[in-house]
Amino acid sequence: MSAAQQPDCRPGRRPFTYDPFDPDVMADPLPYYRVLRDEHPVYYLQKWDTYALSRFDDIWNVLEINDGTFVASEGTLPSAAVLAGHNDGPVADPPLHPMPFHANFDAPIYDEVRRCTAAPFRPRNVAKLADRIRVLANERLDELLPRGRFDLTQEYGGIVAASVVCELVGLPADLAPDVLATVNAGSLAQPGSGVEVANARPGYLEYLTPVVARRRAGQGSELPIVDNLLNYRLPDGSALSDTEAAVQMLGVFIGGTETVPKIVAHGLWELSSRPDQLAEVRSDMDANVPVAREEMIRYCAPAQWFARTLRRPFTLHDTTMRPGQRIISLLASANRDEREFPDADRFVWNRPMPRLLAFGRGQHFCLGAHLARLEIAIMVTEWLKRVPEFRVDTAAAFRPPSSFQWGWSELPVEV
Ligand code: HEM
Repeated sequence: MSAAQQPDCRPGRRPFTYDPFDPDVMADPLPYYRVLRDEHPVYYLQKWDTYALSRFDDIWNVLEINDGTFVASEGTLPSAAVLAGHNDGPVADPPLHPMPFHANFDAPIYDEVRRCTAAPFRPRNVAKLADRIRVLANERLDELLPRGRFDLTQEYGGIVAASVVCELVGLPADLAPDVLATVNAGSLAQPGSGVEVANARPGYLEYLTPVVARRRAGQGSELPIVDNLLNYRLPDGSALSDTEAAVQMLGVFIGGTETVPKIVAHGLWELSSRPDQLAEVRSDMDANVPVAREEMIRYCAPAQWFARTLRRPFTLHDTTMRPGQRIISLLASANRDEREFPDADRFVWNRPMPRLLAFGRGQHFCLGAHLARLEIAIMVTEWLKRVPEFRVDTAAAFRPPSSFQWGWSELPVEV
């Protein structure tokens, strides 16, 4: 953003506007978030009939509400096309068939389908993946380090995270590069429209639907996520088709692939540009990497916001929102809220962090949070063990404009 374009709401200056699909916001939303937090904590986006919440405390309290006031019946990441439609009142849950991603339903369907996919992500099961993740990380390092220069986001964390996802959903790990490329392409956001998740789905489903069909035919070994979805019955007694079951796996497929690599790469970059902090972390990696990891997640998590649609009136800071209107919770703004994190724009590896919103909160809390934490800790540790010195080529680093996943997707590094 050029100086002339800096958002400015001082008297006499051009009126401040914020729109998550505005190209300037997509290029760098952080200055906008600061103005929103300071001046407009409940900012109304007339075009989308949506309120943007930007303060940590407000988002923390709103996401905690689980009484049906806020639902995700229009999706947790609606495109601009969806938000362009203004609702006269509450939006009902979608029809049962063809069944969209379960997050669009309220309880009990939401909870039941989420439970089908949850088993591998419980802490005890996640812990069993540690050795495998360490092997995958070291295989990547064996291949990459002799090259001297490579992409830290895609070629290290990207391949490791996509390999883990492949194995969780029953795909061979050697498909990881293709899965990674497909998810990256699907996350590219267009100015004015956001992420057209629906358009990207056929690409994802080409991987997932055959896996479901194979398990339905009794082939292959047990796959808890797929097997639970095949056994699930909706309240009307009907089962999920192959495609419907595959759609329920999209959260794992996408969420598991796109976020962790950007945090690992950006987090290592932040450490490398602060030699004193890097030396402290290196001094006792078992104790310090898990601490630094939390700051990496706060500081580097790329997801900007998630949406909910109101089913009941709700008042915040004297603004009453109507059923059918939406909120977007700007998690990326909450992560930088100086009311919660003093000197929030500084990376401080061991900053005290009693609360974190990067994984969301409440009903839709990230299913993969334990896995994400484990993957980041292992990838950072293995990297620091094997790479005594590294330098990010900052001139060639690339963070594509995005309304959703604003993260360093290309980070060339020299070792
Ligand atoms: C550090 C990395 C990650 C971050 C920061 C992150 C963040 C989030 C956030 C904020 C949400 C909540 C969305 C909402 O409130 O609407 C979410 C949901 C979700 N995440 Fe993650 N995620 C990460 C990694 C993962 C991984 C590794 C997986 C799976 C392998 C995963 C799977 C999911 C799924 C399935 C949901 C949807 C949950 C639901 O609606 O029931 N995420 N994630």
